Amino acid sequence: MESCMDRIKRDIENIAIITATPQKGSTRFSYSDEDRRAREYLFKEMEKLNLEIKVDGAGNIRAKYAHGNESLPSVILGSHIDTVANGGKFDGVTGVISALELIRVIKEKKVQLKRPLELIVFAEEEGSNFGITMLGSKILTGKFSLKDLKNIKTYDGITGYDVMSNFGLDVDSIGRDVLKRNDVAAMIELHVEQGGILDLEDTPIGIVKSIAGMRTYKISLKGVSNHAGTTPMYLRKDPMAGASEIISYLEEAAKEHALPTTVGTVGKILCKPNMPNVISGEVNFYVDIRDVDPQGIEKVADALLNKTNEVAKKRGLTSSVELIGESDSVKLSSKIIEAIESSAIEENYKYKIMNSGAVHDSAMLTNFTDVGMIFVPSIGGLSHCPEERTNYEDIKLGCDLLIHAVIKLANE
Ligand code: GLV
Ligand code: MN
Ligand code: MN
Repeated sequence: MESCMDRIKRDIENIAIITATPQKGSTRFSYSDEDRRAREYLFKEMEKLNLEIKVDGAGNIRAKYAHGNESLPSVILGSHIDTVANGGKFDGVTGVISALELIRVIKEKKVQLKRPLELIVFAEEEGSNFGITMLGSKILTGKFSLKDLKNIKTYDGITGYDVMSNFGLDVDSIGRDVLKRNDVAAMIELHVEQGGILDLEDTPIGIVKSIAGMRTYKISLKGVSNHAGTTPMYLRKDPMAGASEIISYLEEAAKEHALPTTVGTVGKILCKPNMPNVISGEVNFYVDIRDVDPQGIEKVADALLNKTNEVAKKRGLTSSVELIGESDSVKLSSKIIEAIESSAIEENYKYKIMNSGAVHDSAMLTNFTDVGMIFVPSIGGLSHCPEERTNYEDIKLGCDLLIHAVIKLANE
């Protein structure tokens, strides 16, 4: 008979095969063909457990294990199966599969629960399509409307509304499916740490106390496209050179003018016409700023906006700065932290209470209910890359704690 760890491994590896970039990591954007195939895999596993499956207008999968008590608020478990481009196989999937395994164990062992459980597979957590992270959970919690969906676009100019409709979703229904406070009793998400602290400290379990806030800006610089050989340096209006100045300054601002917890990144840059022998006419780049302390984000964002104006003025460029996505830092529930901690102590698992630098769908639920997160180590701290790894033994420990905590919360 397969052990819990075998089943977790089998599911994670089966989903990992579904990627648009074989041998080059997991590329499985929400609303893509790979997403559809991964969903089909999950639906089959959920059907084996007789879960009641619903998919909302944004593509969030909601699978309920109700066992005759559907009128009570549920304990929600969940995470995501979408990825960044060339990402890892553990980010998100680990939480979804651990939750599925939890329901299998509860059913097999006939554990009595007062409350229903609901496994939610959130859509578009990574923001890979529109640059907006946690979009599925923002829609589920009413933070993002139908009107907003008609305004956002992919990098190819297709609206969020059209992308979701083309996937076969009833997008117009999103307002109807917004979560209500009374629907939910608690939420727990298991996730890989995605940083190197647990691995470095040889600690298999992290218990999350805060999730960082983040802001994503799109900065656009326009200059004059011209010949790279004939245009003297003093006659140029080069937005690429301007962008490089702003990007270097972002690193300095996050490192030296903000807080020790502040981070700033430019991970995506697009230029036109993108030719080696042509001075660019336009450069667009995306700035990601994060901190558990909102002041850190504020400081870097202010400095960045001032720097962009200064650089544009000095170089004769036109500039625009657009806030693409935003989420506040949140504190997780001390009640759930204590529930996980007491289970870790009972089981004699080494743990650390820590912050999350990555954002998670759980953050969106904090103004609805008590929310907690369990981390398991990322080997070498690598994530959002094909080399992302977590030991299955550690996932099993995390899943054990998830089961303990959920049994407590579902019987309150
Ligand atoms: C997504 O999960 C992120 O933290 O960027
Ligand atoms: Mn994730
Ligand atoms: Mn991620």
